[in-house]
Order: sequence, then C-alpha cells, then structure tokens
Amino acid sequence: MDRLNGKTALITGAGAGIGRATALRFAAEGANVVVSDVNDDAARAVATEIGETSIVNHCDTSVEADVEAAIAATIKAFGTIDILVNNAGVGGGQAWDRMIAINLSGVMYGCKHGAEAMAARGGGSIVNLSSMLGLISIPGAGVDGYTAAKHGVVGLTKNYALTYGPRGVRVNCINPGWIETAMTDPIAAAGGKAFMVEGTALGRMGKPEEVAAVALFLASDDASFVTGASHVVDGGWTAR
Ligand SMILES: NC(=O)c1ccc[n+]([C@@H]2O[C@H](COP(=O)([O-])OP(=O)(O)OC[C@H]3O[C@@H](n4cnc5c(N)ncnc54)[C@H](O)[C@@H]3O)[C@@H](O)[C@H]2O)c1
Repeated sequence: MDRLNGKTALITGAGAGIGRATALRFAAEGANVVVSDVNDDAARAVATEIGETSIVNHCDTSVEADVEAAIAATIKAFGTIDILVNNAGVGGGQAWDRMIAINLSGVMYGCKHGAEAMAARGGGSIVNLSSMLGLISIPGAGVDGYTAAKHGVVGLTKNYALTYGPRGVRVNCINPGWIETAMTDPIAAAGGKAFMVEGTALGRMGKPEEVAAVALFLASDDASFVTGASHVVDGGWTAR
C-alpha cells in the first residue's frame, strides 16, 4: 500500500470511471492526488473520499491554458509533479472537432506541459489513456473520430517518450478494452452488452480498478525501464 509514497499525481477526468478509480488507488498507495475534472461536483466527491492528501482542480483538457494551470496548481499545492495521467476523454458520437480537441489535443497539452515540468524536476511518469481502438478498429461511422484520436495518442506517447527519455520522463499509454463506466453504459443500454462481452476472451467487461492497477504499475518505480509503449488491458479482445 505504499508504492507511490512521497509522489504527487495529477489525474485528469478523475471525477468518474477509470480516472476516479486511478485517483483512489494512487491515494491508497500513498500519493498526493490532484483530482482534476471539467465536472466540479464529481471531482469534489472523489477528493472528499480521499481526504487531506487530495485537492480538486477544474480543468477542461481541450483548453491548453487549463491544462497548464492544472500542472501549476499541482506544483503549488504539493511542491512538485511526479505523475500525470492524461485520462479525460469522451466516447464516440461526438463531432469530429470536439473529439479531436478532447481525446487528442488534450492529451498533447498534458504531455507538452507535463513532460517539461517533470524534466525540470529530474523526471517523472506520464500515463496516457488511449484505447484498444488506438491499435485496431471496429466497424461504424460513430467511432471514426474516436479511433483516429486514440491512434494519435499511441503516436504522441512514442514521440514524447523519445523526446523526454533522456531527461528522465517516461511516457506510456494504456489501451483498455470494454470497461464498465458511464462511457460504455449507453452501449450496454442500447443492447450492445453481448457484443462487448462475447468478443472478450475473459467473457466479461473490465472494471475501472483493473485499468487503475496498470496505471499504478506504469506510474511507479517498478516500471523504471518501461517507456514509449502501449499496454493492452482488454481481457483478450485484441488477441483474436
Ligand atoms: N470505458 C471504456 O470502455 C474505455 C475503453 C478504452 C478507453 N477508455 C478511455 O479511458 C478514459 C476514461 O474513460 P471512462 O470510461 O472512465 O469515462 P467516463 O465517462 O466514465 O469518465 C470520464 C471523465 O472525464 C471527464 N471529462 C470529460 N471531458 C473532459 C474534459 N474535456 N476535460 C476534463 N475532464 C473531462 C468527465 O467529466 C468524467 O468525469 C477516456 O480517455 C476513454 O476514452 C475508456
């Protein structure tokens, strides 16, 4: 329970789903956690659950100045930033520009300002939330922008890992399969649960905590030689 003792983490989109589970896990492992979200009530609830080692931050990751300010707020509150999880994202069906702004540009703003802040302090770890749809695709016009953005996150991860590796910053991405959150609830409600479960080797959807466990590994010193890589957490969906 002390794998992140003494570390400070900023997590975007931490008010719900995978971000929330990651915030709670990181805090349980001893980290100071900045719970950042565009939804203030949701962020406040998570920070309250954590207690005094946590603060709330309002940030719309599609706005570069917000992301810069979130990093500055982290350093102001806890004196440093060791870990950044670029988790905030929206599901398919959005307009193209909005999708790219949040799911791709938002991650780039985090990498750009987060990597520089970490490098200036001797290093750190950035974890980007891509998707298995950053490596493969499924049919459907509704996920064209999502797929393109998540493939882009894989490329961004490689670029920042190569650029900042020499300065001690590791950059990885996680590629989840179907995880039970508010993002997949509408798919399940529309009759898509069987589709999500049947293609998954383990025969079920994943839980946010199962993604948070991999984020913890990547954020921790256990992953000291791991950078520039995609980490599939999909119960076997992409194995077929
Ligand atoms: N759930 C899945 O099956 C799944 C699969 C693969 C990848 N992912 C990725 O994991 C990440 C988290 O997804 P989730 O399922 O936990 O989603 P979720 O909808 O449960 O939670 C997303 C959180 O991000 C916040 N958010 C949305 N837009 C934001 C913005 N512009 N700025 C800041 N915060 C914003 C929301 O308020 C919410 O709290 C996303 O990047 C998503 O694409 C999810």
